[in-house]
Amino acid sequence: MYDFAPTDVADKATLYADLLSAADALTRDEPDAVANMANLSALIWQFLPDLNWAGFYRMVDGELVLGPFQGKAACIRIPVGRGVCGAAAATKETQLVEDVHAFPGHIACDAASASEIVVPVLIGGEVVAVLDLDSPVPARFDQTDQDGLTALIDRVAARIAA
Ligand code: SME
Repeated sequence: MYDFAPTDVADKATLYADLLSAADALTRDEPDAVANMANLSALIWQFLPDLNWAGFYRMVDGELVLGPFQGKAACIRIPVGRGVCGAAAATKETQLVEDVHAFPGHIACDAASASEIVVPVLIGGEVVAVLDLDSPVPARFDQTDQDGLTALIDRVAARIAA
């Protein structure tokens, strides 16, 4: 049994430090990418408040394909360049979207989603996956979230590349 849990924290940066530490410990000795993406999705879901979806899309034959996640069943395939996930894959840059309804081409997998952040997972400069978090709260994600998630992905990228 793993018993990782956020400490009773007051600030978001500490929450992300705790999440990074748990994620590092859980994936460090495991080479299976799917197992690691599954556990990372579970940790993110457990540690971060106000999410309605958290998980991965993997780059498979030039297209984003649904990977391990927490939340409602979601769109399975997303072309590069489409939606927020596709934009992150096309630009290789994090997409921080305060209002998904204002994002051109946003793909509504869950009507409850109001804001979203998508962080690309890069190995040797190539996108191998994206991490996607959705929230029912408008403007749920800020620079602290982006910094925390970027540090998390930097740490685990090689462990979630198939
Ligand atoms: N909203 C995403 C699609 C994936 S779901 O949110 C899980 C997008 O526009 O790429």
